[in-house]
Amino acid sequence: MASRSRSPRMQEVERIVRRVAPTDLSILITGETGVGKGLLAKQIVSLSQRRDQPFIQVNSAAIPDTLFESELFGHKPGAFTDANAERQGHIERADGGTLFFDEIGELSLESQAKLLHTIEDREITSLGSNLPLRVDLRILAATSKDLAEEVSQGRFRRDLYFRLNEIQVHLPPLRRRREDILALADHFIRNQGAELGGRRIPDLTPERLRLMQDYAWPGNIRELENFIKSLMVLGNASLAFSRLKSAMNPGGRSADGRISLPEMVRRVEGRVEKKVIERTLQRTGWHRKNTAAILNISYRSLLAKIKQFELAR
Ligand SMILES: Nc1ncnc2c1ncn2[C@@H]1O[C@H](COP(=O)(O)OP(=O)(O)OP(=O)(O)O)[C@@H](O)[C@H]1O
Ligand SMILES: [Mg+2]
Repeated sequence: MASRSRSPRMQEVERIVRRVAPTDLSILITGETGVGKGLLAKQIVSLSQRRDQPFIQVNSAAIPDTLFESELFGHKPGAFTDANAERQGHIERADGGTLFFDEIGELSLESQAKLLHTIEDREITSLGSNLPLRVDLRILAATSKDLAEEVSQGRFRRDLYFRLNEIQVHLPPLRRRREDILALADHFIRNQGAELGGRRIPDLTPERLRLMQDYAWPGNIRELENFIKSLMVLGNASLAFSRLKSAMNPGGRSADGRISLPEMVRRVEGRVEKKVIERTLQRTGWHRKNTAAILNISYRSLLAKIKQFELAR
C-alpha cells in the first residue's frame, strides 16, 4: 500500500496495515459506511503471503440462517431436498487463502456459533458427508457496527469477537481526515476523466474546493466518489455544489438566503456549548465524570454532547 494519505490518522492506519498484513492474524476492519473497508481487505490480501491464493468474500448480511452451513461448508448430492449436485462451500474454496466476512455484525447468533467452531477446529464437514476436511484459512472481517457494544448487548458472541479481533483496524470517517478530501477528489476526477476520454473536467473554483473540504460527507469516500462522478457525467456543477451547500446549512434561511435570528442564536449557542465542553474535557484530562460534575450535567448527557459535537481527544 503506497502511503498516499496526508492525514496523520490514516498514516497511522497505513503503518499498522503494513505491519500486520503479512502475518496470518485475524483482522477486524471497522468504520462507517463508505470509508473503504472492502477496499482495505483487498489491500491487506495483496500485501500478504496469500496474495496468489484464493480470496473469497462472504456478505454475511446476504446469507439466510437456513443456508449458512450449505453456503459455507458445501454439501454432497442429496444432503437435503434441493441439493442435487455436490457443491463446494466458501470455506473449501478459500482453502489456502483468505476468507473475508463482510458485515460480520449481521450474522445471527446461531451462525456465529458455527463459524466459531470452524475457526477453532480448522476443519469443516460438508452437509451429507462424514469426512471432516482440514482447512488453512486467514480470516478477515469488516463491520460498520460497534461490535464491542453488540457483545455487551448479547447480540454478538464474545468468544468469536476475540477470535476475529486479533488486530483491529479502524478506518476514520472522511470528516476526520479532511486533509485527504481534495487528493481523493482529484484521484476520482482522473479516473472518471480517463473513463470519459478526458472530457468535462469540472470547474473547481476556490469556493467550491472549500465547500468540498467543509462538507461532512456522511457517506464518506463512496459519497465523494459518487459526487465527482455525477459532476463529470452530468456536468451540473452549479446545481451539485448548491446542493452541497444547502446540505451543510439545513433550514433556518429566509427566502433571500439570510439566516433568521433564532437560527443565528441557535448556532452561536451550539458553538459556545461545544467550546465550553471541549475546554473542560481538556482541563480534566478527559475525565468525563469530573467534566459532567463541573458542568452540572448528567454523565449521560455529556456523552451525548461529545457524540453530537464529535469531540475527540
Ligand atoms: N483510499 C481510497 N482511494 C480511492 N478510492 C477509495 C478509497 N477508499 C475507498 N474508496 C472507494 O470508495 C468506495 C467505498 O469503499 P468500500 O466499498 O470499500 O467501503 P466500505 O467501508 O466497505 O463501505 P460499506 O460499509 O458501505 O460496505 C469504493 O468505490 C472504493 O473503491
Ligand atoms: Mg463494504
